[in-house]
Amino acid sequence: MSTVLVTGGAGYIGSHAVKALAQAGYDVVIYDDLSAGHRDAVEAIATRMPGRVIRLIEGDVADRARVTAAIRSSGAAAVMHFAAKLSVGESVTAPLKYYATNVTGTLTVLQAMAECGVDAFIFSSTAATFGEPARTPIDETHPQQPINAYGESKLAVERALPHLERAHGIRAVTLRYFNAAGADPDGWIGEDHSPEEHLIPRALAAADRGAALTVFGSDYPTPDGTCVRDFVHVTDLAQAHLLALEHLERGGGSGDYNLGNGQGVSVRELIASVERVTGREVAVVAGPRRAGDPAALVASSARIMRELRWQPRLAALDDIVATAWRWHHAHPNGYRSAEQD
Ligand SMILES: NC(=O)c1ccc[n+]([C@@H]2O[C@H](COP(=O)([O-])OP(=O)(O)OC[C@H]3O[C@@H](n4cnc5c(N)ncnc54)[C@H](O)[C@@H]3O)[C@@H](O)[C@H]2O)c1
Repeated sequence: MSTVLVTGGAGYIGSHAVKALAQAGYDVVIYDDLSAGHRDAVEAIATRMPGRVIRLIEGDVADRARVTAAIRSSGAAAVMHFAAKLSVGESVTAPLKYYATNVTGTLTVLQAMAECGVDAFIFSSTAATFGEPARTPIDETHPQQPINAYGESKLAVERALPHLERAHGIRAVTLRYFNAAGADPDGWIGEDHSPEEHLIPRALAAADRGAALTVFGSDYPTPDGTCVRDFVHVTDLAQAHLLALEHLERGGGSGDYNLGNGQGVSVRELIASVERVTGREVAVVAGPRRAGDPAALVASSARIMRELRWQPRLAALDDIVATAWRWHHAHPNGYRSAEQD
């Protein structure tokens, strides 16, 4: 079985992909600067799978010599590229950081692949490349007009990929996630961003600590006035990466796929689910709308279901929230809780 280089593999979605790869029999070399990732996430997988090679190389994706050496020394046949900066708000105030990591860093990884003759690339893109939706559900033919530097930085890479394929033969599968959610059902790994901007962990922390959760905007043109999002389980996302990898290994061509559950869930519905799952009340404070938050973002995943035979397995909202709650409850301070044990 071959080796896969996973950039950002110490992060939330990347670590779930690392686990899925290891369970499918691949060896994995993680390349991560640990700016937002966790060594403990890597160790949590490696210690439970002693028969697999799961190695962490610390480094910045913009460091061309180091990325090239990592690809060469690992003998990787494919690259899954998760490493990125991903705060929409920060991308507005610090766009250069987003262009440096998400554009220059990604092009550096691709350049290293070209140099090493690695031709299979799986790219983490985002619903933010679509901008304000003209229609929902959003399929792959929807116009891409990002409204922040984060979305622009991911779209810039999407647009570069066909040129790199023509010049260097690199085949790329682009996966545009909507809202990644939940945690490993086995409880090995979970979500730990700092600061945490994602709704489910914020709502769980509010339920746990009895603190109030700010809901940003309650006057949207949606059934209950709050934003509607599409929460897709992180293990289902990891599965999509495996299917994309197998497709490229079979000699399949490049493609771009939207990835969501296809169900719109409002912030209020999500809070109700958190209350059901935790058995605790979530106190809510009404806040203003956040700039750049579209009213509704719901994916059509019909293409990946048809072409790569992807099916979400943990699609029910309460099941998604329950996995996140189990992780949160066992690690109230994220991976730091484990360090304190
Ligand atoms: N979380 C979501 O809902 C979501 C939605 C759409 C797309 N995405 C994309 O999925 C990918 C993973 O997101 P995540 O939620 O797991 O984020 P994360 O922050 O948990 O993981 C990103 C990882 O990349 C690493 N990293 C950051 N900059 C780096 C650099 N310069 N060099 C090397 N490593 C670096 C971090 O240390 C971290 O481990 C990102 O590309 C993101 O844009 C995420």
